[in-house]
Amino acid sequence: MHTHGTETPVNAPSAEIPMTAHKTQAPTTDRSAELFEQAREVLAGGVSRNTLLRAPHPIYAERASGCRIVDVDGVERIDFANNMAALIHGHSHPAVTAAVTAQLEHGTAYTMATRAEIDYALQLRRRAPGFEKMRFMNSGTEAVMAAMKASRAYTGRHKIAKVEGTYHGGYDYAEVSQAPAPHNWGPAERPASVPLAKGTPESVLQEVVVLPYNDPEAAVAVLNEHRGEIACVVLDLMPHRLGLIPAKDAYVVALRDWTREDGALLVLDEVITFRTEVGGMQTRYGVSPDLTAMGKVIGGGLPVGALAGRAEVMEVFSAGAGGPRLPQSGTFSANPLTITAGAAAMKLYDAEAVARMNRLGTLARARIEEAIAVAGAPASVTGAGSMFRIHMKAEAPTDYRSSYPSAEEKALLSHFVDGLYDHGVMAIHTGAGALSTPMDEAVIDQLADAVLASLRKL
Ligand SMILES: Cc1ncc(COP(=O)(O)O)c(C=O)c1O
Repeated sequence: MHTHGTETPVNAPSAEIPMTAHKTQAPTTDRSAELFEQAREVLAGGVSRNTLLRAPHPIYAERASGCRIVDVDGVERIDFANNMAALIHGHSHPAVTAAVTAQLEHGTAYTMATRAEIDYALQLRRRAPGFEKMRFMNSGTEAVMAAMKASRAYTGRHKIAKVEGTYHGGYDYAEVSQAPAPHNWGPAERPASVPLAKGTPESVLQEVVVLPYNDPEAAVAVLNEHRGEIACVVLDLMPHRLGLIPAKDAYVVALRDWTREDGALLVLDEVITFRTEVGGMQTRYGVSPDLTAMGKVIGGGLPVGALAGRAEVMEVFSAGAGGPRLPQSGTFSANPLTITAGAAAMKLYDAEAVARMNRLGTLARARIEEAIAVAGAPASVTGAGSMFRIHMKAEAPTDYRSSYPSAEEKALLSHFVDGLYDHGVMAIHTGAGALSTPMDEAVIDQLADAVLASLRKL
Protein backbone atom coordinates (compact mmCIF):
# COMPACT_ATOMS: atom_id res chain seq x y z
CA MET A 1 0.00 0.00 0.00
CA HIS A 2 1.04 3.62 -0.37
CA THR A 3 2.75 5.43 2.40
CA HIS A 4 1.61 8.90 3.26
CA GLY A 5 3.34 11.55 5.30
CA THR A 6 2.24 11.80 8.90
CA GLU A 7 0.75 15.03 10.11
CA THR A 8 0.74 15.98 13.75
CA PRO A 9 -2.68 15.59 15.29
CA VAL A 10 -4.00 18.93 16.56
CA ASN A 11 -5.39 17.50 19.75
CA ALA A 12 -3.19 14.48 20.16
CA PRO A 13 -2.55 13.50 23.76
CA SER A 14 0.85 14.88 24.64
CA ALA A 15 1.97 11.75 26.46
CA GLU A 16 0.39 8.47 25.50
CA ILE A 17 0.58 5.66 28.00
CA PRO A 18 3.04 3.18 26.51
CA MET A 19 1.14 0.27 25.03
CA THR A 20 2.33 -3.24 24.32
CA ALA A 21 3.91 -3.96 20.98
CA HIS A 22 1.32 -4.38 18.24
CA LYS A 23 0.40 -8.04 17.91
CA THR A 24 -1.52 -9.35 14.98
CA GLN A 25 -0.81 -13.02 15.55
CA ALA A 26 -3.37 -15.09 17.43
CA PRO A 27 -3.00 -14.73 21.18
CA THR A 28 -1.97 -17.76 23.19
CA THR A 29 -4.70 -17.26 25.79
CA ASP A 30 -8.44 -16.83 25.44
CA ARG A 31 -9.35 -14.85 28.53
CA SER A 32 -12.29 -13.24 26.74
CA ALA A 33 -13.82 -16.70 26.26
CA GLU A 34 -13.38 -17.44 29.96
CA LEU A 35 -14.89 -14.09 30.97
CA PHE A 36 -17.89 -14.62 28.70
CA GLU A 37 -18.52 -17.99 30.35
CA GLN A 38 -18.63 -16.21 33.71
CA ALA A 39 -20.71 -13.36 32.31
CA ARG A 40 -23.36 -15.71 30.99
CA GLU A 41 -23.95 -16.90 34.54
CA VAL A 42 -24.87 -13.46 35.78
CA LEU A 43 -25.61 -11.07 32.91
CA ALA A 44 -28.75 -11.70 30.86
CA GLY A 45 -27.53 -12.81 27.46
CA GLY A 46 -23.98 -12.42 28.77
CA VAL A 47 -23.71 -8.67 28.14
CA SER A 48 -25.33 -5.36 28.99
CA ARG A 49 -25.21 -4.16 25.35
CA ASN A 50 -26.17 -6.48 22.51
CA THR A 51 -23.97 -4.56 20.10
CA LEU A 52 -20.93 -6.07 21.82
CA LEU A 53 -21.93 -9.64 20.98
CA ARG A 54 -19.80 -11.33 18.35
CA ALA A 55 -19.06 -14.93 17.50
CA PRO A 56 -17.84 -16.89 19.33
CA HIS A 57 -17.85 -14.38 22.22
CA PRO A 58 -17.38 -10.66 22.94
CA ILE A 59 -13.85 -9.35 23.36
CA TYR A 60 -13.07 -7.93 26.79
CA ALA A 61 -11.10 -4.71 27.14
CA GLU A 62 -8.12 -4.32 29.43
CA ARG A 63 -7.14 -0.68 28.81
CA ALA A 64 -7.06 2.01 26.15
CA SER A 65 -5.19 5.19 25.39
CA GLY A 66 -5.40 7.58 22.45
CA CYS A 67 -6.57 5.59 19.42
CA ARG A 68 -5.35 2.23 20.72
CA ILE A 69 -7.12 -0.39 22.77
CA VAL A 70 -5.71 -3.54 24.35
CA ASP A 71 -7.85 -6.56 25.14
CA VAL A 72 -7.52 -8.95 28.09
CA ASP A 73 -5.33 -11.27 25.99
CA GLY A 74 -2.86 -8.45 25.40
CA VAL A 75 -3.78 -7.84 21.76
CA GLU A 76 -3.59 -4.21 20.75
CA ARG A 77 -5.73 -2.74 17.99
CA ILE A 78 -6.39 0.69 16.52
CA ASP A 79 -9.83 1.63 17.74
CA PHE A 80 -12.11 2.75 14.91
CA ALA A 81 -15.21 1.82 16.93
CA ASN A 82 -14.60 4.57 19.50
CA ASN A 83 -17.45 3.34 21.68
CA MET A 84 -19.90 3.45 18.81
CA ALA A 85 -18.63 6.82 17.54
CA ALA A 86 -18.93 8.44 20.98
CA LEU A 87 -15.23 9.18 21.53
CA ILE A 88 -13.98 12.07 19.44
CA HIS A 89 -10.61 12.25 21.22
CA GLY A 90 -10.15 8.52 21.54
CA HIS A 91 -9.41 7.20 25.02
CA SER A 92 -8.24 9.05 28.12
CA HIS A 93 -7.29 12.33 26.53
CA PRO A 94 -5.02 14.04 29.10
CA ALA A 95 -7.04 17.29 29.19
CA VAL A 96 -10.33 15.46 29.72
CA THR A 97 -8.79 13.11 32.27
CA ALA A 98 -7.32 16.03 34.23
CA ALA A 99 -10.62 17.93 34.27
CA VAL A 100 -12.63 14.88 35.37
CA THR A 101 -10.06 13.93 38.01
CA ALA A 102 -10.24 17.43 39.51
CA GLN A 103 -14.03 17.26 39.55
CA LEU A 104 -14.01 13.79 41.16
CA GLU A 105 -12.42 15.30 44.24
CA HIS A 106 -15.39 17.63 44.60
CA GLY A 107 -18.11 15.02 44.24
CA THR A 108 -19.82 13.24 41.38
CA ALA A 109 -23.49 14.20 41.62
CA TYR A 110 -25.48 16.55 43.81
CA THR A 111 -29.13 17.33 44.40
CA MET A 112 -28.12 20.84 43.36
CA ALA A 113 -27.64 22.57 40.06
CA THR A 114 -24.12 23.60 39.03
CA ARG A 115 -22.44 26.53 37.36
CA ALA A 116 -20.70 24.03 35.09
CA GLU A 117 -23.92 23.07 33.31
CA ILE A 118 -24.68 26.73 32.56
CA ASP A 119 -21.19 27.26 31.17
CA TYR A 120 -21.39 24.12 29.06
CA ALA A 121 -24.83 25.05 27.72
CA LEU A 122 -23.41 28.46 26.74
CA GLN A 123 -20.47 26.75 25.03
CA LEU A 124 -22.77 24.46 23.03
CA ARG A 125 -25.16 27.29 22.19
CA ARG A 126 -22.37 29.13 20.40
CA ARG A 127 -21.97 26.16 18.06
CA ALA A 128 -25.34 26.22 16.28
CA PRO A 129 -27.86 29.01 15.72
CA GLY A 130 -30.87 26.89 16.68
CA PHE A 131 -29.65 25.97 20.17
CA GLU A 132 -31.53 28.74 21.99
CA LYS A 133 -32.30 26.66 25.08
CA MET A 134 -31.19 23.18 26.14
CA ARG A 135 -31.42 20.45 28.73
CA PHE A 136 -28.89 17.78 29.57
CA MET A 137 -29.74 14.13 30.09
CA ASN A 138 -27.89 10.83 30.30
CA SER A 139 -28.20 9.18 26.90
CA GLY A 140 -29.15 9.71 23.29
CA THR A 141 -32.18 7.53 23.91
CA GLU A 142 -33.40 9.98 26.53
CA ALA A 143 -32.68 12.96 24.29
CA VAL A 144 -34.75 11.52 21.42
CA MET A 145 -37.51 10.52 23.85
CA ALA A 146 -37.56 14.03 25.31
CA ALA A 147 -37.68 15.47 21.77
CA MET A 148 -40.72 13.36 20.90
CA LYS A 149 -42.48 14.14 24.17
CA ALA A 150 -41.67 17.85 23.90
CA SER A 151 -43.10 17.83 20.37
CA ARG A 152 -46.30 16.23 21.61
CA ALA A 153 -46.57 18.67 24.52
CA TYR A 154 -45.96 21.66 22.23
CA THR A 155 -48.26 20.67 19.37
CA GLY A 156 -50.96 18.77 21.27
CA ARG A 157 -50.62 16.01 18.63
CA HIS A 158 -49.45 12.46 19.25
CA LYS A 159 -48.13 10.89 16.04
CA ILE A 160 -44.41 10.64 15.32
CA ALA A 161 -42.92 10.29 11.84
CA LYS A 162 -39.53 8.67 11.32
CA VAL A 163 -37.49 7.16 8.51
CA GLU A 164 -37.48 3.43 7.80
CA GLY A 165 -34.44 1.59 9.13
CA THR A 166 -33.16 4.36 11.41
CA TYR A 167 -31.90 3.85 14.93
CA HIS A 168 -32.92 6.49 17.44
CA GLY A 169 -32.41 4.61 20.72
CA GLY A 170 -34.63 2.47 22.88
CA TYR A 171 -37.87 4.45 23.36
CA ASP A 172 -40.82 2.36 22.10
CA TYR A 173 -41.86 4.95 19.51
CA ALA A 174 -38.28 5.42 18.29
CA GLU A 175 -37.85 1.68 17.82
CA VAL A 176 -40.66 1.26 15.29
CA SER A 177 -39.26 0.10 11.92
CA GLN A 178 -35.72 0.24 13.24
CA ALA A 179 -34.96 -3.12 11.70
CA PRO A 180 -37.74 -4.28 9.39
CA ALA A 181 -37.09 -7.19 7.02
CA PRO A 182 -38.26 -7.95 3.49
CA HIS A 183 -41.11 -10.15 4.76
CA ASN A 184 -42.68 -7.36 6.83
CA TRP A 185 -41.45 -4.01 5.51
CA GLY A 186 -44.32 -3.49 3.04
CA PRO A 187 -44.22 -1.32 -0.10
CA ALA A 188 -41.08 0.83 -0.58
CA GLU A 189 -43.05 4.05 -1.06
CA ARG A 190 -45.29 3.40 1.92
CA PRO A 191 -43.29 1.40 4.47
CA ALA A 192 -45.13 -0.57 7.16
CA SER A 193 -44.79 0.26 10.88
CA VAL A 194 -42.86 -2.77 12.09
CA PRO A 195 -42.25 -3.55 15.78
CA LEU A 196 -38.70 -4.24 16.95
CA ALA A 197 -39.42 -5.87 20.30
CA LYS A 198 -41.85 -8.63 20.97
CA GLY A 199 -44.73 -7.21 22.98
CA THR A 200 -44.65 -3.73 21.41
CA PRO A 201 -48.23 -2.47 21.81
CA GLU A 202 -50.24 -2.20 18.60
CA SER A 203 -51.15 1.34 19.69
CA VAL A 204 -47.46 2.35 19.44
CA LEU A 205 -47.29 1.10 15.85
CA GLN A 206 -50.39 3.10 14.99
CA GLU A 207 -48.79 6.28 16.33
CA VAL A 208 -45.63 5.99 14.24
CA VAL A 209 -45.66 6.97 10.58
CA VAL A 210 -42.74 5.45 8.67
CA LEU A 211 -41.17 7.38 5.80
CA PRO A 212 -39.11 6.17 2.83
CA TYR A 213 -35.59 7.67 2.80
CA ASN A 214 -34.26 10.23 0.35
CA ASP A 215 -37.42 10.16 -1.77
CA PRO A 216 -39.00 13.57 -1.10
CA GLU A 217 -42.17 13.00 -3.14
CA ALA A 218 -42.91 9.59 -1.60
CA ALA A 219 -42.21 10.85 1.93
CA VAL A 220 -44.45 13.89 1.49
CA ALA A 221 -47.21 11.68 0.05
CA VAL A 222 -47.10 9.54 3.23
CA LEU A 223 -47.03 12.62 5.47
CA ASN A 224 -49.99 14.14 3.63
CA GLU A 225 -52.13 11.23 4.80
CA HIS A 226 -51.55 12.42 8.38
CA ARG A 227 -52.00 16.19 8.06
CA GLY A 228 -52.67 17.87 11.38
CA GLU A 229 -51.83 14.71 13.37
CA ILE A 230 -48.05 14.58 13.46
CA ALA A 231 -46.20 16.09 16.43
CA CYS A 232 -42.77 15.77 14.84
CA VAL A 233 -40.76 14.30 12.01
CA VAL A 234 -37.53 12.82 13.37
CA LEU A 235 -34.62 12.87 10.94
CA ASP A 236 -31.00 11.78 11.14
CA LEU A 237 -29.01 13.50 8.38
CA MET A 238 -26.72 10.45 8.00
CA PRO A 239 -28.34 7.47 9.70
CA HIS A 240 -25.75 4.87 10.63
CA ARG A 241 -27.94 1.76 10.79
CA LEU A 242 -29.71 2.72 7.58
CA GLY A 243 -26.34 2.57 5.82
CA LEU A 244 -24.47 5.76 6.82
CA ILE A 245 -25.93 7.47 3.77
CA PRO A 246 -26.14 11.29 3.86
CA ALA A 247 -29.61 12.76 3.31
CA LYS A 248 -30.24 14.49 -0.02
CA ASP A 249 -30.66 18.26 0.21
CA ALA A 250 -34.05 18.05 -1.53
CA TYR A 251 -35.23 15.49 1.04
CA VAL A 252 -34.25 17.68 3.99
CA VAL A 253 -35.88 20.73 2.39
CA ALA A 254 -39.08 18.78 1.68
CA LEU A 255 -39.37 17.59 5.29
CA ARG A 256 -38.55 21.06 6.66
CA ASP A 257 -41.14 22.69 4.39
CA TRP A 258 -43.81 20.08 5.10
CA THR A 259 -43.42 20.31 8.88
CA ARG A 260 -43.45 24.10 8.86
CA GLU A 261 -46.55 24.23 6.72
CA ASP A 262 -48.39 21.55 8.69
CA GLY A 263 -47.49 22.87 12.15
CA ALA A 264 -45.43 19.77 13.03
CA LEU A 265 -41.90 20.06 14.41
CA LEU A 266 -38.70 18.95 12.73
CA VAL A 267 -36.45 17.05 15.13
CA LEU A 268 -32.90 16.28 14.07
CA ASP A 269 -31.19 13.35 15.74
CA GLU A 270 -27.56 14.46 15.80
CA VAL A 271 -26.48 11.89 18.38
CA ILE A 272 -23.94 10.51 15.89
CA THR A 273 -23.71 13.26 13.29
CA PHE A 274 -22.84 16.11 15.65
CA ARG A 275 -19.15 15.24 15.17
CA THR A 276 -19.28 16.14 11.46
CA GLU A 277 -19.38 19.95 11.96
CA VAL A 278 -18.79 22.42 14.80
CA GLY A 279 -22.55 22.92 15.08
CA GLY A 280 -23.57 19.46 13.93
CA MET A 281 -24.50 18.27 10.45
CA GLN A 282 -27.45 20.69 10.37
CA THR A 283 -25.04 23.56 9.76
CA ARG A 284 -23.71 21.73 6.68
CA TYR A 285 -27.26 21.57 5.29
CA GLY A 286 -28.22 25.04 6.52
CA VAL A 287 -31.42 23.55 7.93
CA SER A 288 -32.99 24.97 11.10
CA PRO A 289 -34.69 22.23 13.08
CA ASP A 290 -37.09 23.00 15.90
CA LEU A 291 -35.28 20.56 18.19
CA THR A 292 -31.95 18.73 18.12
CA ALA A 293 -31.17 15.57 20.07
CA MET A 294 -27.50 15.05 20.91
CA GLY A 295 -25.37 12.54 22.77
CA LYS A 296 -22.13 10.59 22.28
CA VAL A 297 -19.22 13.04 21.62
CA ILE A 298 -20.66 15.84 23.75
CA GLY A 299 -20.14 13.67 26.86
CA GLY A 300 -16.36 13.58 26.49
CA GLY A 301 -16.45 9.80 27.07
CA LEU A 302 -19.09 9.76 29.80
CA PRO A 303 -22.81 8.98 29.43
CA VAL A 304 -24.72 11.93 28.01
CA GLY A 305 -27.69 13.21 26.11
CA ALA A 306 -28.92 16.72 25.42
CA LEU A 307 -31.90 18.33 23.81
CA ALA A 308 -31.52 21.78 22.30
CA GLY A 309 -33.90 23.89 20.30
CA ARG A 310 -36.10 26.88 19.79
CA ALA A 311 -36.79 28.71 23.04
CA GLU A 312 -40.53 28.74 22.39
CA VAL A 313 -40.65 24.95 22.03
CA MET A 314 -38.27 24.31 24.92
CA GLU A 315 -40.68 26.31 27.11
CA VAL A 316 -42.68 23.07 27.53
CA PHE A 317 -40.14 22.15 30.23
CA SER A 318 -40.70 25.37 32.21
CA ALA A 319 -43.10 25.49 35.10
CA GLY A 320 -45.94 27.87 34.21
CA ALA A 321 -49.10 28.55 36.20
CA GLY A 322 -50.33 24.96 35.96
CA GLY A 323 -46.84 23.42 36.11
CA PRO A 324 -44.70 22.40 33.14
CA ARG A 325 -46.41 20.91 30.10
CA LEU A 326 -43.65 18.31 30.16
CA PRO A 327 -42.30 17.54 33.64
CA GLN A 328 -38.86 16.06 33.04
CA SER A 329 -36.07 14.99 35.36
CA GLY A 330 -33.25 12.50 35.74
CA THR A 331 -31.22 11.63 38.82
CA PHE A 332 -27.91 11.93 36.99
CA SER A 333 -28.90 14.54 34.41
CA ALA A 334 -26.17 17.20 34.02
CA ASN A 335 -24.04 15.46 36.64
CA PRO A 336 -20.80 17.41 37.05
CA LEU A 337 -18.58 14.56 35.85
CA THR A 338 -20.28 14.31 32.47
CA ILE A 339 -20.54 18.06 32.13
CA THR A 340 -16.85 18.52 32.99
CA ALA A 341 -15.75 15.81 30.56
CA GLY A 342 -18.04 17.07 27.81
CA ALA A 343 -17.01 20.69 28.19
CA ALA A 344 -13.31 19.81 28.10
CA ALA A 345 -13.73 17.53 25.07
CA MET A 346 -15.83 19.91 23.04
CA LYS A 347 -13.58 22.88 23.82
CA LEU A 348 -10.79 20.91 22.13
CA TYR A 349 -13.07 19.97 19.24
CA ASP A 350 -12.92 23.38 17.60
CA ALA A 351 -13.28 24.35 13.93
CA GLU A 352 -9.69 23.38 13.17
CA ALA A 353 -10.03 19.97 14.81
CA VAL A 354 -13.35 19.29 13.06
CA ALA A 355 -11.85 20.23 9.68
CA ARG A 356 -8.84 18.01 10.30
CA MET A 357 -11.04 15.06 11.27
CA ASN A 358 -13.17 15.54 8.17
CA ARG A 359 -10.08 15.65 5.94
CA LEU A 360 -8.87 12.44 7.54
CA GLY A 361 -12.35 10.95 6.98
CA THR A 362 -12.21 11.84 3.28
CA LEU A 363 -8.78 10.23 3.08
CA ALA A 364 -10.01 7.10 4.91
CA ARG A 365 -12.95 6.64 2.54
CA ALA A 366 -10.68 7.15 -0.49
CA ARG A 367 -8.10 4.67 0.81
CA ILE A 368 -10.83 2.12 1.55
CA GLU A 369 -12.18 2.51 -1.98
CA GLU A 370 -8.67 2.01 -3.31
CA ALA A 371 -8.29 -1.17 -1.24
CA ILE A 372 -11.64 -2.46 -2.51
CA ALA A 373 -10.52 -1.84 -6.11
CA VAL A 374 -7.14 -3.52 -5.57
CA ALA A 375 -8.81 -6.55 -3.97
CA GLY A 376 -11.46 -6.60 -6.72
CA ALA A 377 -14.02 -7.23 -4.00
CA PRO A 378 -17.77 -6.65 -4.35
CA ALA A 379 -17.74 -4.00 -1.64
CA SER A 380 -18.43 -0.28 -1.30
CA VAL A 381 -18.06 2.51 1.20
CA THR A 382 -20.44 5.19 2.44
CA GLY A 383 -20.19 7.98 4.98
CA ALA A 384 -19.16 11.60 5.39
CA GLY A 385 -17.20 13.71 7.85
CA SER A 386 -15.16 11.54 10.19
CA MET A 387 -17.13 8.34 9.59
CA PHE A 388 -17.18 5.50 7.10
CA ARG A 389 -19.17 2.32 6.61
CA ILE A 390 -18.09 -0.59 4.45
CA HIS A 391 -20.79 -2.65 2.75
CA MET A 392 -20.41 -6.07 1.17
CA LYS A 393 -22.20 -4.75 -1.88
CA ALA A 394 -20.59 -3.79 -5.18
CA GLU A 395 -22.94 -0.80 -5.54
CA ALA A 396 -23.00 1.67 -2.68
CA PRO A 397 -26.49 1.47 -1.13
CA THR A 398 -28.84 4.45 -1.23
CA ASP A 399 -31.36 3.61 1.49
CA TYR A 400 -32.24 1.00 4.12
CA ARG A 401 -33.60 -1.52 1.63
CA SER A 402 -30.61 -1.36 -0.69
CA SER A 403 -28.22 -1.58 2.29
CA TYR A 404 -30.10 -4.55 3.78
CA PRO A 405 -27.65 -7.47 3.54
CA SER A 406 -28.53 -10.87 2.14
CA ALA A 407 -27.62 -13.84 4.37
CA GLU A 408 -24.46 -14.28 2.31
CA GLU A 409 -23.50 -10.60 2.57
CA LYS A 410 -24.12 -10.70 6.30
CA ALA A 411 -21.77 -13.65 6.71
CA LEU A 412 -19.16 -11.95 4.52
CA LEU A 413 -19.37 -8.76 6.56
CA SER A 414 -18.90 -10.66 9.79
CA HIS A 415 -15.80 -12.41 8.35
CA PHE A 416 -14.56 -9.09 7.04
CA VAL A 417 -14.87 -7.37 10.43
CA ASP A 418 -13.17 -10.38 12.06
CA GLY A 419 -10.38 -10.01 9.48
CA LEU A 420 -9.93 -6.36 10.46
CA TYR A 421 -9.60 -7.44 14.10
CA ASP A 422 -6.98 -10.00 13.05
CA HIS A 423 -5.07 -7.21 11.30
CA GLY A 424 -5.04 -4.89 14.27
CA VAL A 425 -8.13 -2.79 13.49
CA MET A 426 -11.26 -2.65 15.57
CA ALA A 427 -14.38 -1.49 13.73
CA ILE A 428 -18.07 -1.34 14.58
CA HIS A 429 -19.87 -4.65 13.88
CA THR A 430 -21.78 -3.01 11.01
CA GLY A 431 -18.54 -2.38 9.12
CA ALA A 432 -18.59 1.25 10.21
CA GLY A 433 -15.79 3.27 11.74
CA ALA A 434 -15.42 6.64 13.43
CA LEU A 435 -12.16 8.55 13.61
CA SER A 436 -10.67 10.23 16.65
CA THR A 437 -8.31 13.20 17.00
CA PRO A 438 -5.28 11.13 18.07
CA MET A 439 -5.36 9.46 14.62
CA ASP A 440 -3.17 10.58 11.76
CA GLU A 441 -2.44 9.58 8.17
CA ALA A 442 -0.21 6.70 9.25
CA VAL A 443 -3.18 5.23 11.12
CA ILE A 444 -5.32 5.57 8.00
CA ASP A 445 -2.58 3.67 6.11
CA GLN A 446 -2.90 0.87 8.66
CA LEU A 447 -6.67 0.90 8.21
CA ALA A 448 -6.32 0.62 4.42
CA ASP A 449 -3.80 -2.22 4.78
CA ALA A 450 -6.15 -4.08 7.13
CA VAL A 451 -9.12 -3.55 4.78
CA LEU A 452 -7.13 -4.92 1.84
CA ALA A 453 -5.81 -7.90 3.78
CA SER A 454 -9.23 -8.73 5.18
CA LEU A 455 -10.97 -8.43 1.78
CA ARG A 456 -8.35 -10.70 0.22
CA LYS A 457 -9.08 -13.37 2.81
CA LEU A 458 -12.84 -13.48 2.10
C1 LIG B 1 -28.57 8.27 15.85
C2 LIG B 1 -28.69 7.76 17.25
N1 LIG B 1 -29.69 8.18 18.04
C3 LIG B 1 -29.83 7.77 19.31
C4 LIG B 1 -28.96 6.87 19.86
C5 LIG B 1 -29.13 6.41 21.26
O1 LIG B 1 -28.10 6.91 22.06
P1 LIG B 1 -27.70 6.17 23.42
O2 LIG B 1 -27.05 4.87 23.05
O3 LIG B 1 -26.77 7.13 24.11
O4 LIG B 1 -28.97 5.97 24.19
C6 LIG B 1 -27.90 6.39 19.08
C7 LIG B 1 -26.95 5.41 19.62
O5 LIG B 1 -26.21 4.75 18.94
C8 LIG B 1 -27.77 6.84 17.75
O6 LIG B 1 -26.78 6.38 16.97
